[in-house]
Amino acid sequence: MPDKSDLIEQAQKVMRRNDRGHYTVPTHGLYPFQWNWDSALSALGFSHFDEARAWAEIETLFAHQWDDGMVPHIIFHEHDEGYFPGPDVWDTGRGVPTTGITQPPVAGFAVRRLFERAKDRNSAETKARALLPKIHAWHEWFLRCRDPMNSGLAAVIHPWETGRDNSVDWDRAFERVPTEGVAPFTRRDTQHANPDHRPTDEQYKRYIWLVQHFRKLDWDNTRLHDASPFQVVDPGFNAILLRSCLDLAELAKRLGEPDIAKRSRTIAEDGIAAMERLWSEKYGQYLCLDRVTGQLIDSPSIGGILAAFTSIPTDRANALVRRVETLAQSCTYLVPSHDPTKPEFDGLRYWRGPVWLIVNYMIADGLERAGHRGTAERIMADCLRLIEKSGFAEYYGPITAEGCGGDSFTWTAAMVIEILNTHEVLA
Ligand code: GLC
Repeated sequence: MPDKSDLIEQAQKVMRRNDRGHYTVPTHGLYPFQWNWDSALSALGFSHFDEARAWAEIETLFAHQWDDGMVPHIIFHEHDEGYFPGPDVWDTGRGVPTTGITQPPVAGFAVRRLFERAKDRNSAETKARALLPKIHAWHEWFLRCRDPMNSGLAAVIHPWETGRDNSVDWDRAFERVPTEGVAPFTRRDTQHANPDHRPTDEQYKRYIWLVQHFRKLDWDNTRLHDASPFQVVDPGFNAILLRSCLDLAELAKRLGEPDIAKRSRTIAEDGIAAMERLWSEKYGQYLCLDRVTGQLIDSPSIGGILAAFTSIPTDRANALVRRVETLAQSCTYLVPSHDPTKPEFDGLRYWRGPVWLIVNYMIADGLERAGHRGTAERIMADCLRLIEKSGFAEYYGPITAEGCGGDSFTWTAAMVIEILNTHEVLA
C-alpha cells in the first residue's frame, strides 16, 4: 500500500492533468468537457490543496445556469469531435453550448463543505454568498419543472440525468422510449473504452430518441416533464437534492439569509417524508418509482442505498446498513451498483454492477452521519483497496477490482484526496 502522502500526490497529479484552468474534464478522450456533478464533487478534492481552484470549478458551472434555474449536465467549453452526442445534436441554442438536461444536484452539499473548511474566510463568504441564490434557484427549478404534481420528489426525464446512465433501474421504463426516427449516428465512447464496459447500442438509440424529442419541444422545461415517456423518481437522485437543500439551509442561516434557509428546510422535510413511498420491505432498501405507471420498479440497485445520503429515518438507515452487509457477502468490494445475486448484474458494465467511488463516498458520508461509523469506514477502506489494485479508474469490478472505463479519472482522484484528508482509513 503506498503511503498516504504518495497517494495524495498521485491523485493531485490526475486532477492537475485534467484541469483546464477554470473547469476540469472527467478524463481525457472519453469525456472532453465539463460535467455537472463531476465538477461539484471534484471541487471537494481541490479544496484540500487549492481553495481558489475549488471555488472556480463550481463558479464556472453556475456561470452556465439557464434562465429558468436549470444547471445543465454538460458544458461544451471547447470544440471536440471525440464525443457523441455533441452540441449540434443537443442544439440548445446557447452561446457556450450546453446539453438540455441536468444531473444530480450535489453542488449545495459541496459548497457547504468548501465554505466550512475554507482557510480564506473572507473569500469563502463572498463566494458562498454569490452562489447561494443560484443553487437555490436550481433546487426550486426541480420542484417547478420536475414535480408538477407537488409530490415532494423530482423525476428525471432522461437516464443521463441520474448520473447512473445504464442502470438496470431504467430497463422497463426505457421500453416505452421508441427508437424509430433516430438519426443515424456513430458512437465515440466505444472508441475510447471497452464496449463490454459501456451501454449497448440499443440503449444509445433510446438515449438519442429522448434528446431529439426534447429538442423538438425547444428545450422548454415547462413542457418536457409531461411530454417525456420516461419519468422516473430515483431515491438516490432525490437524496442528493434533499441533502443539498439541508446543507443550503444551514449555509443560508450562517450567511443571514433566513428566507432561503426556511424554504430549503421545508423542501427537504417534505421530500424526506415523501421518500417513504419508495421504501421496499421486500428488499430492505428504497426503489425507484416509475411515475408513468405509478409503480415501484423491482430493481434493487445502488440508487436505493444512496438514499442514505440525506436524513432518512433511523430505522431506514439501520436497514440500509443490513442491506450493505448482505451485499458484502456476494462481492469483495463495496458497494456494487447492482445486487450481484440478481440475473441482471453485470460486474464490469458501467452502472449495472461496478463500484463507483463517488457513490461510495456519499453513502459512507450519510451512514456516518446516521451513526454507522463501522460500515462507513469499511466502504471507504474498500475505495482505497480498489485504488491500490487498479489506480484511478472510472469504476471497478466489485468482485475482481478490475479498473474499467476511462483512466486517470478526476472525481475518483478527488474522492481519494477527500477521504484521506478527512478520515483515518487504511486499506
Ligand atoms: C458518465 C457517468 C456520469 C458522469 C459522466 C462523466 O456518463 O455515468 O455519471 O457524470 O460519465 O464522468
